[in-house]
Amino acid sequence: MPETGPSPIVLIGMMGSGKSTIGRLLAREAGLDFVDSDRELEQRSGAAIATIFDLEGEEGFRKREAAMLDELTQRRALVLATGGGAVLSQENRDRMRARGLVIHLEAPLEELRRRLSHDKTRPLLQGVDIDARVAGLLSERSPLYQECAHLSFVSGAASPKRMVKRILATPQVIAHLARSAQQ
Ligand code: S3P
Repeated sequence: MPETGPSPIVLIGMMGSGKSTIGRLLAREAGLDFVDSDRELEQRSGAAIATIFDLEGEEGFRKREAAMLDELTQRRALVLATGGGAVLSQENRDRMRARGLVIHLEAPLEELRRRLSHDKTRPLLQGVDIDARVAGLLSERSPLYQECAHLSFVSGAASPKRMVKRILATPQVIAHLARSAQQ
C-alpha cells in the first residue's frame, strides 16, 4: 500500500451517479489504486450492505461507514468511491474535504431515476416508491454534496471514458496530482 503520492481523490454523489465505474477507470488512467468504501466494508465484515442494514439498521451502517472513511481518507495514491450517504455526517464531510480532493459526480434526477428504477440491492430503495425516494434524497443531499466538493462534474450523458478524460484535463486535478506526487 503506497505511503507516498497524492492524497486521495474522493468521489461523492448520489447512488447511480457512476462513482464506482468512473472511479475505477480514473484510477487506472492516473496510475492510482481504487477502493470502493462499500465493497471494502463488505469484504472486511463478510456481510452485504443490505445485511448490515437488516441487522444493525441505518445507524449501525453509518458508524461502520464513518470508520471506513476515516481510515481510507488517510491513504495515499488512491481514488476512493464513497457511498451516496457519506456526506450526511459533518465529520465525514470535514475529513473528506481536509484530506483529499473531493469530486462530486452530479447526475440529473431523470438519469438517476432511470438507472435506479429496478434496483434490488440498495436498502434505501426497497419497498418504497423509487422515483419519489430518489427525488427526496437528491434534494436533501444536494447542498451537502456542494458543501463538501472541491469540484463538480455533471455525469449524465457522457460515457465514463469521456468523464475521466474531462476530470484528468481539469487544472485543479492536474495540480493535485503533480503537487502531491512530490510529497
Ligand atoms: C447509500 C448508498 C449506497 C450504500 C448504502 C447507502 C445512500 O452506496 O452506501 O446503500 O445512503 O445513498 P452507492 O452510492 O454506491 O449506491
